[in-house]
Amino acid sequence: MKTQGTSRLSGFYRKTLEERLEIIGRRLGDRAVEAVKRGLPLDVADNMVENTVGILGLPLGVATNFVIDGVEVLVPMAIEEPSVIAAASNAARMVRGAGGFVTDVDPPHTVAQIELLDPRPDAPARIAEAEAELLEVADASQPELLSLGGGARLVETREDVGRDRIVIHLVVDCLDAMGANIVNTMAEAVSTKLAELSGARVGLRILTNFADRRRARARCAIPLEALARRGFSGEQVARGVAAACEFAKADPYRAVTHNKGIFNGVDALLVATGNDWRAVEAGGHAWAARNGTYGPLTQWRVEGGRLMGSIEMPMAVGIVGGASRAHPVARFSLELLGAETGGDLAKVAVCAGLASNLAALAALAGEGIQRGHMRLHARKT
Ligand code: MEV
Repeated sequence: MKTQGTSRLSGFYRKTLEERLEIIGRRLGDRAVEAVKRGLPLDVADNMVENTVGILGLPLGVATNFVIDGVEVLVPMAIEEPSVIAAASNAARMVRGAGGFVTDVDPPHTVAQIELLDPRPDAPARIAEAEAELLEVADASQPELLSLGGGARLVETREDVGRDRIVIHLVVDCLDAMGANIVNTMAEAVSTKLAELSGARVGLRILTNFADRRRARARCAIPLEALARRGFSGEQVARGVAAACEFAKADPYRAVTHNKGIFNGVDALLVATGNDWRAVEAGGHAWAARNGTYGPLTQWRVEGGRLMGSIEMPMAVGIVGGASRAHPVARFSLELLGAETGGDLAKVAVCAGLASNLAALAALAGEGIQRGHMRLHARKT
């Protein structure tokens, strides 16, 4: 992760739009500012999707105050909902005073599924024996990925998916890409060989968006006194945040709203960087329901005079390919962020989610979300 300078831009919200752009320009140069001012040109949009007739703009803001693994990070957020950016900045300010967020991320392994119907009984054994050959066939379809050090890593057979069906999982190191196109191509490339080995009919060949091997985690520990807010002691707020988390654990109706607040931050960053936020949403909700009941993606507890928070969720995101490259504002966002790898972006995404969740729960535990929101609308953070 490369820093673009301090993220503590005190009073940023009070500046005019021109003054904010001047600050960004001092860091990234005039070209970046021109790009963000121009937005998405119509001819680029026309090449991105079919039947283009126009462009829907969204505000792009910058969440301030983030310190992630010791690095100062400005977090670009594209979102239509007011208060999200101010709330995340506010929470990040509390966390920064306590040393910032600490993160880690799994290797960028994305999984393709190949469905095999009516396989012969010894198909799993035959496929396991041919693993090296299958990996080679998969790799041959993605020479560029291979030359950069990525590639297919593992073939697994799942037999717990109904009668007359087995599912092959092809695990692929996608480096800095989200990987959908890569693994879909590989899945198609290996399917002839798989049909031959298994005597099966090939069914679907597509990635799974349940990216449970590609999770990102973040945590923070905030001294209670740092949480005090109008009319509420830090301890009251912290205990309220922890209690709100217990509520989400006990009630899926609450857990969904709790997680929606997390996705306020996550999605805003993913939209700003041209990532497939629907894929991350789908994987995140599946992770939230992995134990059979839908639960919260974050944990909060009070311990040793501090509010301890953590988040863990699948985070299949990339900084190369797709809209991340095609969309000039997504390129601007990635530059502002200083993300050097897909893993860097994943780390920031979970921090944005944890910060958004903290802001929402602290407001709910204190003055209530409407008053909190109104205060943020008035830009008094
Ligand atoms: C609103 O966009 C998000 C919240 O509803 C999240 C929550 O209730 O935790 C405030």
